[in-house]
Amino acid sequence: MDRYAVVGNPIAHSKSPQIHRLFAEQTGQTMSYEALLAPLDGFAETVASFRAQGGLGMNVTVPFKLEAHALAERLTPRAQAAGAVNTLAFGDEGMLGDNTDGAGLVRDLEHNLDCRLAGASVLLLGAGGAARGALLPLLSSRPKKLVIANRTPGKALALAEHFRGLAPQAPLEACGFEGLAGLDFDIVINATAASLAAEAPELPPAIYASGSLAYDMMYGATPTAFLVAADRAGAARLADGLGMLVEQAAESFALWRGVRPDTTPVLAELRRQLA
Ligand code: ATR
Repeated sequence: MDRYAVVGNPIAHSKSPQIHRLFAEQTGQTMSYEALLAPLDGFAETVASFRAQGGLGMNVTVPFKLEAHALAERLTPRAQAAGAVNTLAFGDEGMLGDNTDGAGLVRDLEHNLDCRLAGASVLLLGAGGAARGALLPLLSSRPKKLVIANRTPGKALALAEHFRGLAPQAPLEACGFEGLAGLDFDIVINATAASLAAEAPELPPAIYASGSLAYDMMYGATPTAFLVAADRAGAARLADGLGMLVEQAAESFALWRGVRPDTTPVLAELRRQLA
């Protein structure tokens, strides 16, 4: 049996095994997918042991995405740009590291939410790993403008500087939250960790253009603090990150198996379970 796994710490609550089992069922692929808890100081050993047992690929989650980036023998351009790896594929040519998070976000926006990035003004909140992982796929979708805003402005400026090096023509700007005063956006994406603490970034009023979408990479049974605040601030549409979770998984599945699953019924099933 072809074996895959997700590795993290903690891992018990990961939805990846269920998502990949649904994909496998739907596409008729014979494979297994398990959840592996790696000790905090034992990521590389856990990967090596799974590979030695015949494992073909892994998803990598918190807190090992940077270590996976360092461990991979080859990197896709998007993993290189993200500085983090969420997907490993073990082939004859060594260990390939990819990052499907940003592509999953873009696919959720464009395919599931029918929200066009091309020509849109986009605000990306946060300058940590989640924001960095999304940047290259977002810029590749040709927004009119992309502003990175962060509570600590210096981090946003540094991130923008880094990506201007990779994509010199990109319409990329950066600032602190106060620097957003007077601006409005078609798409506002929350890539901060604020929702984990039931907090929302403190944004100036009127950043939501008419018809705009507020998107939180986090998700939960009830709307996140960011989405509640966005609703009050006049965002026309609200979306959480459950679709991104399913889409990044589909992207990994396609890389491993060469088949792209239909995410719609899987997302519907996960949404039903969340309620
Ligand atoms: P991740 O890998 O999830 O992106 P991270 O690298 O620790 O996590 O980054 C967390 C991000 O969330 C940062 O952009 C952080 O802002 P600072 O750089 O100013 O710390 C942001 N963040 C966390 N809590 C926040 C809050 N309550 N309001 C606004 N931004 C917050």
